[in-house]
Amino acid sequence: MTKLTLRRPDDWHLHLRDGAMLEGVIGDTSRHFGRAIIMPNLVPPVVTTADARAYRERIVKAIPAGDTFEPLMTLYLTEHTSPDDVEEGKKSGLITAVKLYPAGATTNSHGGVRDMDKAMPVLERMAKIGLPLCVHGEVTTPEVDIFDREAVFIETVLDPLRKRLPELKVTMEHVTTENGIDYIRSAEKNLAGSITTHHLIINRNAILVGGIKPHYYCLPVAKRENHRLALVKAATSGDARFFLGTDSAPHIDPLKECGCGCAGIYTSINTMSCLAHVFENEGALDRLEAFASLNGPTWYGLQPNPETITLIKRDEPVDFPKKRETGAGPVTVFDPLFPLHWDVA
Ligand code: NCD
Ligand code: ZN
Repeated sequence: MTKLTLRRPDDWHLHLRDGAMLEGVIGDTSRHFGRAIIMPNLVPPVVTTADARAYRERIVKAIPAGDTFEPLMTLYLTEHTSPDDVEEGKKSGLITAVKLYPAGATTNSHGGVRDMDKAMPVLERMAKIGLPLCVHGEVTTPEVDIFDREAVFIETVLDPLRKRLPELKVTMEHVTTENGIDYIRSAEKNLAGSITTHHLIINRNAILVGGIKPHYYCLPVAKRENHRLALVKAATSGDARFFLGTDSAPHIDPLKECGCGCAGIYTSINTMSCLAHVFENEGALDRLEAFASLNGPTWYGLQPNPETITLIKRDEPVDFPKKRETGAGPVTVFDPLFPLHWDVA
């Protein structure tokens, strides 16, 4: 197959940042994707419906002329989030989900939740009104090894929460382990998972072999190869509980190429090419549409995009820029370490 037409995809986990960075990166998403769930981990974070409304306006202003793109807004859950504000956000149609960052788990998450009991009133309200919770599924307990943090989160936080509030719809974002995949598969209802582009392609060797490679460092950190294989199997299976959330997370190069580099990989620009490559290798090109364009809307109670996009397999590798230059500085583009022949027409 050298040509593939699918419904226009969506990105169910995206970092757009703000200001000059937002202006520099948004076109890489709006070129291909119809909608994206926008992460609220700005500095300061997007915690109220009013914050989300103002942020949405800044995003809409930055969309390049001629592109149609709908930002789906989220709220950053804190121990002080008001259930009434969350309900108003959902009722007004502005808020698509609320995001749980365990405090300290990742970039700009120090204001996240330390004590889940304190978040229960909001979570109960969300269960009642049918507003999904997106979770960054890693514990931050210092004694837990960074490669085990997702598995321990499932056992000690997520499973107890789901037993306590079975009606709460939970998206386990950027699943990186076989444990996460198995857990989602075993759930009867109200649980789904997003998978990033890069976790389908790299394992932890990409970060550490032959020198330390900051542009392959993200959170949750890439795991062993057996975990990557489980992610590929789930993504290409057609199972409606798995869908694309790129977690494309731009940081300027000086903040990654230093003694304490930021976590985040920038994939918006070549995600569809990377995914077509992965799905073709699995003999699953016919399931790419389910993963990138159909399963996500179904989970979030939306219609798939009416438009389509066409991918073409070129004889020569597609030349993606190595860096996205932005007004905030240069951002290195994800290099999958193999040539990309699929291109969005
Ligand atoms: C994200 C960021 O930079 O905001 N980084 C990352 O490695 N994915 C935060 C996150 O989603 O964990
Ligand atoms: Zn993220």
